[in-house]
Amino acid sequence: MSAGNAAVDAAATASPATTHRLVKEVETAVVISGSLRGYARASRGLSGGFNDFDRRICPLCLTLASSEKRTSPQPQIFRSSGLFRGYASWTTALARASSRFRNIPRRAEFETHGPRSQRPKSVDPASLCRLGENAMNVSGEATRSFWMLDTSFPSAPRLEQDEHCDVAVIGAGIAGVSIAYELALAGRKVVLVDRGPLLGGMTSRTTAHLAPICDDGLSALVKMRGEALARGFQESQQAAVDCIEQHVGRLEIDCDFRRLDGFLFPAAWMDEREAARECNKEYAAAAKIGVEVEHGKGVPLKGHESAPILRYPNQATFHPLKYLRALLADFQKRGGKVFADSAVVEIEEGKQVRLKCDGGSTIIASNAVFATNSPINTWVKIHSKMAPYRTYAMAFDIERGILPDALYWDMDDPYYYVRLNPGPGGTDRIIAGGRDHKSGEADDGEARFTALEAWIRALVPDLGRERARWSGQVLDTIDYCGFIGRSPGNGNVFIATGDSGQGMTHGALAGLLIRDLIVEGSNPWEAVYAPDRTPPAAFAQYVNENLTTVKNLAGYLLPGEIKSADDLKPGEGGILQDGLSKFAVCRDRDGRLHRHSASCTHLGCIVHWNSTEQCWDCPCHGSQFSPDGAVLNGPAIRPLA
Ligand SMILES: Cc1cc2nc3c(=O)[nH]c(=O)nc-3n(C[C@H](O)[C@H](O)[C@H](O)COP(=O)(O)OP(=O)(O)OC[C@H]3O[C@@H](n4cnc5c(N)ncnc54)[C@H](O)[C@@H]3O)c2cc1C
Ligand code: FES
Repeated sequence: MSAGNAAVDAAATASPATTHRLVKEVETAVVISGSLRGYARASRGLSGGFNDFDRRICPLCLTLASSEKRTSPQPQIFRSSGLFRGYASWTTALARASSRFRNIPRRAEFETHGPRSQRPKSVDPASLCRLGENAMNVSGEATRSFWMLDTSFPSAPRLEQDEHCDVAVIGAGIAGVSIAYELALAGRKVVLVDRGPLLGGMTSRTTAHLAPICDDGLSALVKMRGEALARGFQESQQAAVDCIEQHVGRLEIDCDFRRLDGFLFPAAWMDEREAARECNKEYAAAAKIGVEVEHGKGVPLKGHESAPILRYPNQATFHPLKYLRALLADFQKRGGKVFADSAVVEIEEGKQVRLKCDGGSTIIASNAVFATNSPINTWVKIHSKMAPYRTYAMAFDIERGILPDALYWDMDDPYYYVRLNPGPGGTDRIIAGGRDHKSGEADDGEARFTALEAWIRALVPDLGRERARWSGQVLDTIDYCGFIGRSPGNGNVFIATGDSGQGMTHGALAGLLIRDLIVEGSNPWEAVYAPDRTPPAAFAQYVNENLTTVKNLAGYLLPGEIKSADDLKPGEGGILQDGLSKFAVCRDRDGRLHRHSASCTHLGCIVHWNSTEQCWDCPCHGSQFSPDGAVLNGPAIRPLA
């Protein structure tokens, strides 16, 4: 009998105090031994060469690197990972033993929804979304964006039969729709599939600045990628905006697309000298890589009327859902097939890619493109090179003419941003955003909305009434550019992800780049976005972002956040310790109690309750889950257990 089994037996027969001590000892031993193993491998990885770091340094990659190519991705996690396999089996066994002595209700006593497979098969995605229930993407989160108020999600059937095609595109946000559309224009037979309502992902939560200028700053971009690649980034982002403009013109899409100026103005805390220094730095970087920019004085925002600013001409903006609805309609006219409410749950790569959906049907394709915002076909390689941030936005009425139609960004980090949208009569809407934080590291959405409103009212004192408030998530990469291209190690599988606050332009660009890679075999900008790149200059960022995972896993050793589910009021959630296991427990706004394992089904980090969006956020790589455990956002594929 192993020492572990002896401990389980002892725990099952001992007093509660002894059980608790045994449980803690075994838990600590498992985690420490796993960490030491990870540390040893990390050291080997580091000495093996920096260029390999995405396969070797991440404490999770250490055990998983060899299993990146797989058929059924996340369900195998515990079979592949030494640390988690041991941890999972010990915690399950010991929790079972120790819960005999505790006064905490077991899973069966909590109300849970039926499994997804038992839900009705044919549902109108738009109606799901309106209900805000069962939506299998972030349209199911609690807030409604400004765009959702006047535009519904297009409906599409669920995938009920097998499909054969040239290209399968997974994910119908701006990236997936743009990719599917460009490939259809190039004569390819394309199937587009989404796990929830079409366009109901982060695309429905955007603020839709079509700004080619790198949102981390051009000086940072040039320093990180060098002049040639930075120039390629800017050219390609500009080409993406041009492409959107061409589609709007050709299809005569009524989506408020317009060209306008972008203004970079000082952060509230900056004095004039500091602001001028920042302007000079950004101006010099722009000049180096051929970006059009002008020094200027003042924007019509209170307190900044004579501040040093930069003006970037030829930016753009639009209504994202109106634009994408029109693209989808033309895609279908050209023979493209679209399916909603059909999650891809298994991936088999080979000469043909086979994608199994949750209803049991399979898509068999010569090429597959994962445009799922966060890729679901790779476990670690890509996810360890980007980090999830939650960002907040609000829309208000504003009398037309008070603020010139332009894009405004301040110099803060993270930055605030402002744009206008045409409204009825003499009233427009102003949309302000910012107050970002790393996902899962704060649950103070209401305070952030209050601060955002105070910020915009200080700049525009004549603001009217509020129309919408919402939040969403962006994925920041370690070197400021997205990952768009061939999935590492695969010839016929592609990804589009890591688009930071520039997902609109990255998504449209993915359409051009991936079309070229599939149709022509190459694209002039592929090196800028190559998913397998590991720029040495990004090493510090890499380590910094991945500390989140290490910190989070250490959280398994900490006590739970709540003592009992009875403490939860409607809309509240928290982590409950039950024996060795941690449970994500919440009471939804209708008063129903839900209890699931707190381990994210991607790589096992502990999820955090988000009371603003009424969902569980995973701080490690950005998965999100509804109160009933369903996946709202990847990279997770499976619901919380
Ligand atoms: C508040 C906010 C403001 C922003 N402002 C801007 C801005 O001003 N300018 C800008 O350029 N960008 C902005 N962004 C970023 C931008 O909105 C996003 O990066 C972009 O919309 C992402 O598009 P996407 O197509 O990659 O992902 P999504 O729109 O999330 O689409 C991915 C789709 O994949 C589906 N999917 C996931 N898993 C599966 C599966 N297993 N099977 C089938 N389907 C699946 C999802 O349901 C989803 O519909 C902002 C983001 C936020 C949150
Ligand atoms: S562990 Fe990767 S998203 Fe949760």
